[in-house]
Amino acid sequence: MMYHRGAEFAAIVEEVTGRLKHFFQTESDVFVITSSGTGGMEAAVVNTISPGDKVLAVSAGKFGDRFAEIAETHKAQVIRLNFPWGQAADPGVIADALRTDPDVRAVLVTHNETSTGVTHDLEAIARVVSTTDALLLVDAVSSLGALDLPVDAWGCDVVVTGSQKSWMVPPGLAMVSVSPGAWDAVARAQAPRFYFDFTAMRRSATRHFTPFTPAVSLFYGLQEALRLMWAEGRDNIIARHARVGAHTRAGVKALGLEILPDEAYASNTVTAVRVPEGITPQRLRQVMAEEYDVILAGGQDHLADLIVRIGHLGAVVEADIDDALEAMAKALRKLQK
Ligand SMILES: Cc1ncc(COP(=O)(O)O)c(C=O)c1O
Repeated sequence: MMYHRGAEFAAIVEEVTGRLKHFFQTESDVFVITSSGTGGMEAAVVNTISPGDKVLAVSAGKFGDRFAEIAETHKAQVIRLNFPWGQAADPGVIADALRTDPDVRAVLVTHNETSTGVTHDLEAIARVVSTTDALLLVDAVSSLGALDLPVDAWGCDVVVTGSQKSWMVPPGLAMVSVSPGAWDAVARAQAPRFYFDFTAMRRSATRHFTPFTPAVSLFYGLQEALRLMWAEGRDNIIARHARVGAHTRAGVKALGLEILPDEAYASNTVTAVRVPEGITPQRLRQVMAEEYDVILAGGQDHLADLIVRIGHLGAVVEADIDDALEAMAKALRKLQK
């Protein structure tokens, strides 16, 4: 393995960070942390809040709930604003909640709720939050790099994504951006932190290093993936995901199946499909995996017996979706016999 305190590795960190800033559409700091996406979410929380701070946690699914749990773990006073799973968060309701509690210090939002296949209207939510003093912390684990998220233009303070999603790299890296407003909060925030301390990351970043031993091999992967993404171009990547998302939804409907969320806010990175009565999602996934080599995700929590999820982010084109849907059609026919 390359020495992680040498010039060769520093050059990788410098290149990767520069390209990530382009994809985050930010001039602010971006750090690559050796952890899964959840570690990045915890970093966002522990660096910006103090025990007892009021935090508004917007959730309409598994990952929105996780963000709330992290803030509760760190003793924030969490106001949970829940929307039904499969629906999008209503920015008007968020505005009302912030009017009711004007001392909210941070708003936690999921951009793309992977558990339900919903993309929340982050731009509208960010506009609401920008009229207050609250920070906006965004879980963009399954959106950034595939969906448009201009971090600076929308005024997002901490944005978190994960290597295994749009970035096409194995799991193990979280990437986070930190706005100037978030840095002000870091200076005040009293939540205990050591491994996830942004200040330590910033200090090391001046020399293009990481505070602790990084997952060096994953950095090589990220460097290569970002070169591929650079060659394709940010706008082209976003347009391809929009095309593939629409293609997936059309294909699912052509099979006579229903998509869980309203199409107005259906995600372009993951499609949640209702499984027809009489067939269990578990059995459908099993047949597709064993007989056709197509791996789908199941539903989480109360959606476990209702849906399967088709992931279409990263290196995915329409032909991949056609293969997956053909396998789904065959598996359904087999199970309906
Ligand atoms: C929206 C969202 N947030 C958070 C996570 C958690 O990321 P990780 O599993 O990398 O910790 C995921 C993982 O699928 C996700 O999709």
